[in-house]
Amino acid sequence: MEEHETWEALDQYFSEKLHAFDPVMDWVLEANEKAELPPIDVAPNQGKFLYLLAKLKGVKTILEIGTLGGYSSIWMARALPDDGRLVTLEFSEKHAAVAQSNMKKAGVDGKIDVIIGPALETLPTLKDKGFSSFDMIFIDADKPNNPHYLEWALKLSTPGTLIVGDNVVRNGNVLNKESDDPSIKGIRQFIHLLSEEPRIESTAIQTVGIKGYDGFVVGVVKK
Ligand code: SAH
Ligand code: DHB
Ligand code: MG
Repeated sequence: MEEHETWEALDQYFSEKLHAFDPVMDWVLEANEKAELPPIDVAPNQGKFLYLLAKLKGVKTILEIGTLGGYSSIWMARALPDDGRLVTLEFSEKHAAVAQSNMKKAGVDGKIDVIIGPALETLPTLKDKGFSSFDMIFIDADKPNNPHYLEWALKLSTPGTLIVGDNVVRNGNVLNKESDDPSIKGIRQFIHLLSEEPRIESTAIQTVGIKGYDGFVVGVVKK
């Protein structure tokens, strides 16, 4: 087997054995495919990982930047208590509509607000909407804006807030200092800002699997 085939087979094995698949989540991925959304949702075992992080911290409020079809949103919303709330920001009306239908089907629509528009325009409206801080923030939208999203994550956090960023490895391309790809530059600047940020303790973990070779950055706002 080629290396990437082994990664994929193991993702399948772990996701089956450790219950990262279930009929509702599978249905969401099918609905996304039918609507021709790009297949860039987190993997099932990564979705469950986000769910477990949220449970571990007992979070009550979650902010997600980048909804797509709501696959990661639904995983995280499932970890919320009855009075918990997840706010997710999405630029595309089409993606948001698919996500809202998926959230309804999954029975978590009552806990989620999908806010449509470019995140840099909707983030400044959250305070007035009654969301002044979040216990967990998942950054997974347009990577060139990651440095700005980090700034907003700090504004919308309190001591102990968990910040997770997706796609910080990109098949190793993030190592390329000379890259002129705006996504790579955005991720490198994001990591650089974290390295100099006294208010957050962070680390990054590389991952392999059905999403190829990628990784997460995880940080906690200091007490
Ligand atoms: N978190 C999702 C995947 C998100 S993909 C999951 O794992 O299931 C990234 C999403 O960010 C796409 O739907 C894209 O339309 C959205 N996006 C891109 N630029 C954006 C912006 N400026 N503001 C808000 N959303 C944006
Ligand atoms: C892309 C974006 C993602 O958030 C992801 O998880 C994978 C790929 C992309 O834009 O290519
Ligand atoms: Mg992603």
